[in-house]
Amino acid sequence: MYYPDEIVEEVRSRNDIVDVINGYVGLKRKGNTYTACCPFHNEKTPSFHVSREKQMYHCFGCGAGGNVFTFLMEYEHYSFPEAVKYLADRAGMELPEQKLSGEEKQKESRKVQLREVNKSAAAYYHYLLTKTERGKKGLEYFRKRGLSYETIQRFGLGYADFGPNGLYQYLKQKNYPDDLMRDAGLIEFDEKRGPHDRFWNRVMVPILDINGKVVAFGGRVLGDAKPKYLNTKETEIFDKSHMLFALHLARRSRRRGMILCEGYMDVIAMHQAGFDNATASLGTAFTIGQANLIKRYTKEVYLAYDSDEAGVNAALKAIGILRSIGLSQRVINLKPYKDPDELIQGAGKEAFEERIRDAVPGLMFEIEQMRKAYNLNDPEGKTEFLHNVARKLAMLTDAVARNSYIETVSRQYMLDAGILKATVTQYGLSGDYETVPPPPEPDRKKPTGSLTQQGLLLTWLANRPELFRKLDGIISEKDFTEGDCFVVAEALFEQYRTTGKVNPAAIVNRFDDVDKQSIAAGMLQTELPFETSDEEMVRAVTDVVRKIKLESVERELSDNQDPKRFPELIRKKQELLKLHISL
Ligand code: CTP
Ligand code: MN
Repeated sequence: MYYPDEIVEEVRSRNDIVDVINGYVGLKRKGNTYTACCPFHNEKTPSFHVSREKQMYHCFGCGAGGNVFTFLMEYEHYSFPEAVKYLADRAGMELPEQKLSGEEKQKESRKVQLREVNKSAAAYYHYLLTKTERGKKGLEYFRKRGLSYETIQRFGLGYADFGPNGLYQYLKQKNYPDDLMRDAGLIEFDEKRGPHDRFWNRVMVPILDINGKVVAFGGRVLGDAKPKYLNTKETEIFDKSHMLFALHLARRSRRRGMILCEGYMDVIAMHQAGFDNATASLGTAFTIGQANLIKRYTKEVYLAYDSDEAGVNAALKAIGILRSIGLSQRVINLKPYKDPDELIQGAGKEAFEERIRDAVPGLMFEIEQMRKAYNLNDPEGKTEFLHNVARKLAMLTDAVARNSYIETVSRQYMLDAGILKATVTQYGLSGDYETVPPPPEPDRKKPTGSLTQQGLLLTWLANRPELFRKLDGIISEKDFTEGDCFVVAEALFEQYRTTGKVNPAAIVNRFDDVDKQSIAAGMLQTELPFETSDEEMVRAVTDVVRKIKLESVERELSDNQDPKRFPELIRKKQELLKLHISL
C-alpha cells in the first residue's frame, strides 16, 4: 500500500491541523499556538501544543508529536494509508486506486492457511486436555496451579500427548498438506523418524495475535524436565519481537494502563484474578516493537518482572525502551515473591492490587538501583551519586515534575535540594543528558549526549530560521551524525536553501513509522525546557555548536590518514574554542 509523495503532501495541505485536532480535543488559542490537555497521557495542565504555522503538534509532557497524519495514527490507531484515506475523504479528494499485486495476494492466503492449521491444532490439544482420559494429567497440573475450568476455556489451554505423531494424524485426516504443517512449526519432518509432532507431553498454551487468531504455541513440561518451556519457532505469522501474549484481551480491558511481565503463566494467573490488562513478551527480551504495540492502547505501563536479579535488569531495560517512546513506567515490587503468579497464589489478589497502587515510577526505581553502587556515607561516593542523579533528572522537560523529583529524591537520599537543583540545571543547559536510550550497538567513537545536542540545534534552526545565516560556513547538515538527525537536518537545510523558509510538517513524512515521526517532530519542536536569559541562550547555542563541530573535526582527525591535513584540522579545533555566536 503506497501513495505517491505529491498526493500525500496535497492531502496534508488540504487539512489544516488545527481544525482536524480541534475536532477531537478542544483547543485554546494562545497567540500562534493552540493548546490543550494532552490526549496521549494523563495531565491536568495543558502541555499539548498545536502550531498552525508549522502544521505540527507536540506534547511537552510525553513527547508525542508529529503532523496531521501522525495525529490520526496515534489517536485513532489508523495505519498511514488509513490516515491518508480519511483525510482525503475529509477534503473531498479522490485517491488513486490501491491494488494488491498477485504476489501479495498469494502471501495473504498462505497466512490465512497457516492460521487455520494452528486453529485446528489448538482444538486438538484442547480436546485432549478436557475430554480424554489421557489428558487428565494435564488437567490435574493446571488445577494444582490454581486455574479454574473457566480460565482453561478462556485461554483455550490444551495438552500434547506422549505419542510421536498424534497431531500429525489428526491434521492429516483433516486434509492439511505436509508443507503447511511444517511451515506452521507444528510438525517436524525427519528422514529417519518420519513426521513427528514438535510438542510432546506438555500442557499447551495457544498464542493468539492481536485479532485473536492462534499463531503459535507455548508448551510447558508437567514436572521439572528441561527445557521447561518450548515455543513454536518463528514463522511467517509468528514474529516474537512484534507480539505480546494476551494483548488481544488486555487491549479491551477497562483497567488502567497495562501490566507487563515475563511469563505467560503469570499473565494467565493475573487475568484469572481480574487483572485482565496483563500481557507478556514471549520468552525473549522486551523490544521496541512490542512497546509500540502497547502504545496503541495505553500510555501507562506497570512492570511486574520477576524479583530476582535477572528480572531487575530486564525491568531497567524495559524502562529505557518505554521511556524512549513516551510511555510512562511504574515498577511493581513483588518481594518476597518471585513472580506475580506466586504473589497472587500466596498473598491473594487484594495484596496484588495494593502492590499496583504502590508501584514506583521508573525513574525512582532506576535511582534506587543506581544507589546500590555507591557508599553514601563516603563524601566522594555521595558526590558521584548526586551527579549521576542530576544527570538523570535533567531529562525531565516538565519543570513541575523536575522540581518534585528533586524534592523527593533529596529527601529520600538526604541530598541538599539546592545543590541538586543547580546541578540538574547545569546538566540540562549543556545538553548532557539522555533523552532516548543509546542505540542497541553503541558506537564507541560517539560520546553520549550528542543526540541531545544535535536535536537541540535542529529545534533552534526550525524555530529561528535566521540562525541559518548566522551559522553559515560554520555548520551544515553533514555535522548531524546522530541517528535520524541527519535525515531531518538534510531536509531542513534543503528547504532553507531552496525557499529561504522551513516547513517542518513536510519533513515528518520522510519517516514512515509513527514513532520515528514523533522523534523527528520532537527534534523540531522541543523548546529548551530550562528557564533561560538571552545571555544564557547565546552561551547554550555557542556551546552546542562548538560541541557538534568539535566532534566532527575529531572524527576527521581520527579517520584521516593524510598527515598534511593535520595542521589544518588542529587549527580548526583551536578556532572552535574561540567561537562565539551572537543572536
Ligand atoms: N521461557 C522460555 N523457555 C525457557 C524458560 C522460560 O521460553 N526454557 C519463557 C517463557 O515464555 C516463560 C517465561 O520465559 O513464560 C518466564 O519464564 P520463567 O520465569 O522461568 O517461568 P515462570 O513464568 O515462572 O513459569 P512457571 O511458573 O511455569 O515455572
Ligand atoms: Mn512462575
